[in-house]
Amino acid sequence: MTSYERCWILAALLLLVTAGWLWSDTRALSAAFPAEDDGAAEPVESDMHEFMEYVFQPTFKRLKPAMAEEPVDNQAWKAIKADALILAEGGNLLLMRQPEEDAADWTEHSVQVRQYGGELYRAAKAKDYAKARGHYESMVKNCNACHEQFAGGEHILAP
Ligand code: HEC
Repeated sequence: MTSYERCWILAALLLLVTAGWLWSDTRALSAAFPAEDDGAAEPVESDMHEFMEYVFQPTFKRLKPAMAEEPVDNQAWKAIKADALILAEGGNLLLMRQPEEDAADWTEHSVQVRQYGGELYRAAKAKDYAKARGHYESMVKNCNACHEQFAGGEHILAP
């Protein structure tokens, strides 16, 4: 075999290996992102009752006693930060669940919860209880505003 021939065989082998690697890589990628999924956010639980019961309710049940008095240590502030952030980001999740009717009002309530939940989170980061309490109450007012309009006035929460 001449060195010229050897060179060609090596080049062909390299090409094969590269092609095989590219093929397996594309297959791995398409398995992670199925063709029909365009990557847009979508509800996992589309039933509003279940969504509120398992995302918002337990979070609020923890947050309410935690916010009742000024937190005594870092651990207590961390608990508030965690629940405030879940509810604030939960406002974003509500935006994916707009009803057919009065969607603009739904959006407004959701954005307010995101806004005040976010302010509460930031006040908790700064360990400012007076501020945190104010934002907490504003957030709950907006939870209730949505319940007034979209839950037939049920589930009115006391902060
Ligand atoms: C954009 C509208 C909207 C916002 C904002 C909203 N909720 Fe709700 N929530 C609903 C609706 C609608 C229901 C009633 C669901 C049902 O039973 O069909 C509900 C029900 C509930 C319930 C009762 C769940 C149960 O199992 O009976 C709780 C607790 C609750 N929400 C907590 C909250 C808290 C806390 C916030 C604010 C941080 C909040 N919600 C903000 C729409 C909203």
